[in-house]
Amino acid sequence: MHHHQVTLSFFVAFSIISLFVTYKISGYGPLDVTNTKVCSGNGKIYADRPNVCDCYNCFDGPACENVTPNCIINDIGGNPELHQQYWETNYDAISKSSIMVRSDYRTGYEHASHMIYEDDTKNTWSTITPEINKAIRQLHKQVKNAEVDGYSIVLGTGGTGVITAAIWALTQIANNKEPTRVFARTPFFGAYRNWANLYPTVTHWNASYDQQDFQDNLIEFITSPNNPTGKVDWEPHYKQGKLQVHDMVYYWPSLTDTSKYPPLNKDIMVFSLSKLTGHAGTRFGWALVKDKKVAEKMSEFITRVQVHTSIDAQFRALTVIKHLIGTQGDVFFNFIKTSLQSRWKRILELFEKPVMKKHFAVESEPDQFYLWIKCINVDQPCYILMAKNGLLGWDGNDFGSPVGQYVRLEMVVRDSVFEILLIRLEEIGNKLETKK
Ligand SMILES: Cc1ncc(COP(=O)(O)O)c(C=O)c1O
Ligand SMILES: *[C@@H]1O[C@H](CO)[C@@H](O)[C@H](O)[C@H]1NC(C)=O
Repeated sequence: MHHHQVTLSFFVAFSIISLFVTYKISGYGPLDVTNTKVCSGNGKIYADRPNVCDCYNCFDGPACENVTPNCIINDIGGNPELHQQYWETNYDAISKSSIMVRSDYRTGYEHASHMIYEDDTKNTWSTITPEINKAIRQLHKQVKNAEVDGYSIVLGTGGTGVITAAIWALTQIANNKEPTRVFARTPFFGAYRNWANLYPTVTHWNASYDQQDFQDNLIEFITSPNNPTGKVDWEPHYKQGKLQVHDMVYYWPSLTDTSKYPPLNKDIMVFSLSKLTGHAGTRFGWALVKDKKVAEKMSEFITRVQVHTSIDAQFRALTVIKHLIGTQGDVFFNFIKTSLQSRWKRILELFEKPVMKKHFAVESEPDQFYLWIKCINVDQPCYILMAKNGLLGWDGNDFGSPVGQYVRLEMVVRDSVFEILLIRLEEIGNKLETKK
């Protein structure tokens, strides 16, 4: 017994010393994510795997020192990794509260934490809800992108959570014997179609522009700025429609000058931490809902499906949103904006080259999240052509566009991945030329 204890403490001491020596030699500690030289600037070390470099797409080696030969760039998702670069440099300012959530932090259910009436600001019951309520309203007032006075807030697991809640809630309001039609202008964010078709007896997707006769049983999504084109357009196609959801997850000063319009005051306005701060993995979103009955229906859906939004996710959201309140918001939004502007400048220059111009047309707004490309004069579907040449984008057909013609790439990858992306695009253009 005694012997074992000695061995154990010796082993622990030895491990600590050797860990210390390892860090000394390699020059980093397990939580030092601020040092960009860690993992050669091409990867990160996370607290859950303290000694291992998590390499970015297309990098490998123990310190991510190599570019993976012939690697396929995964540029499919709307994964805001660029945003992570901001949080690295601002890590110290918020780390103390945001990274470590104590194990005794609000361990119980927080039943009220999926919906917040406006007057809940005055509520003093001890949950995180009044805090997140205040923070969300304050941020919107600061950037003037949406009206908050008179609105209820529904929290969900990402924009996805509140959007599915909104679809169901609106079918209940429509109260029609026929399934409710779900519509958005093309090109649209393909997930709307997938959500709408989950329960065919309740809702079904229809992107047709000839549904005037069904407007009282039709939900229209207005995505502004649009995914994939980045265009800002608040006009619904079905002007008489009463069931509208404004998906505004990209409507922040990092992408659009929100001061150009007065704060929006639509019925249901959807936002998400994913596209605001880049914390997509946290799965936190919210909707500003004008009609209390709709908010209550949405909230009922959230209760049935997930009881409530994770309190840990709410805490993380609260921390980063609080960080954005005040001048830090300008710093953050400007960081994303200027990064995207300089990336877009290079992308547009590349697409101006004669080889590129001959085969590709950029049809999305500059300085936005996505690059929406139309292929011209190519003999195979656009995204297949790219995938075969090491660049995996999203097939434009999933956004409702004609088969084979379009591909969506994302602009928000890490700096080092973006450099490879530029090279890869030019290679593809050159290959198309030499083939002829
Ligand atoms: C237009 C739009 N709405 C909603 C979402 C959902 O995002 P999340 O569930 O991560 O908040 C996305 C994600 O790509 C999107 O592009
Ligand atoms: C979409 O709606 C139009 C107009 O009502 C109809 O003609 C068409 O068949 C519908 N399409 C689908 C896929 O339901």
